[in-house]
Amino acid sequence: MHITLISFLNKRRSLYPATEEYNQQQLSAAAKERGHDLSIVNVGDCQLLLQAGASKMLYKSGDFPKTDGFLVRFSTSFGTHIEAMFVKQLTLDGYTVINPYEGLIRAKNKLRTLQLLAHHAIPIAKTVVIKSRSGIDRAVAELGGLPIIVKTPFGSFGRGVVLVETEKSLYSVIELILKYMALGTDSTIILLQEYIREANGEDIRAFVVGSEVVAAMRRTARGGDFRSNFHQGGTVENVHLTPEEHACAISAVRVLGLDYAGVDIIRSKEGPKIIEVNGNPGLEAITKATGVDVAGKIIDFTVEKIKVSREKT
Ligand SMILES: Nc1ncnc2c1ncn2[C@@H]1O[C@H](COP(=O)(O)OP(=O)(O)O)[C@@H](O)[C@H]1O
Ligand SMILES: [Mg+2]
Repeated sequence: MHITLISFLNKRRSLYPATEEYNQQQLSAAAKERGHDLSIVNVGDCQLLLQAGASKMLYKSGDFPKTDGFLVRFSTSFGTHIEAMFVKQLTLDGYTVINPYEGLIRAKNKLRTLQLLAHHAIPIAKTVVIKSRSGIDRAVAELGGLPIIVKTPFGSFGRGVVLVETEKSLYSVIELILKYMALGTDSTIILLQEYIREANGEDIRAFVVGSEVVAAMRRTARGGDFRSNFHQGGTVENVHLTPEEHACAISAVRVLGLDYAGVDIIRSKEGPKIIEVNGNPGLEAITKATGVDVAGKIIDFTVEKIKVSREKT
């Protein structure tokens, strides 16, 4: 089978280009091991031709390569809706695309993710969305007072997440974020979230492929940090999920419409709470912590999904 990996890697703009290169190499190697071809097409080399009834993707100076299906690595942080249009086109053209367009854009935005999960009664960290300084006091009251977590909707790798412990820093941090958001293309929306103290710098990453948790790890923050992200120096180890955590992770991925994802869960005294779902999860930490060939699981799933969709047509 021939699979095309659509890469959104932009080496100049990406925070950790080597990480995403590693992920793509792992997927490539796993495909090869299974006797499949995987070619990598960077979205920077694609154009989109729109015309009535005959729109199509263009590639460099020629046609788009022939393929059986697509694996998308949506490692982009800005202008996500616009760039995702390339993924949407492949779907409109009838291809099997993993992860699907809708799932990717839902997961990219923490607000959209939490809204959907909450609607489906999946436990999340309690969150208040504010638009301006005037919403702060009410939000903090809803969250039961300080400390709280302040987040931007599109952060990743632990950047864009702040623990605010005093009223003094609360207003200035939010003003700073609002000011920089207003300069960019992001609309001014900030997430204020209950700080789950008992997390104590730890969280769980459940790696879901299809309707299975294929691997899970505990991440522990470095030193005094509250952020357990691997890219903030966090350490990782294999962990067993409780049945409740397992069920939460599976439901979250299904509700968001993703084929595979990393679900971040905090073990709170009230039970598991999801803080985010990553539709472009890293493979390195989870592979090293658990010994599971997650890249292989993704390729197996992709091949199976392509086969099933072919049988339908
Ligand atoms: N509400 C919270 N309570 C306690 N710790 C949190 C909370 N939200 C995030 N964290 C910590 O901060 C880390 C980064 O937050 P997250 O929302 O996952 O942002 P990112 O997308 O940058 O990874 C989490 O992995 C977790 O360790
Ligand atoms: Mg995270």
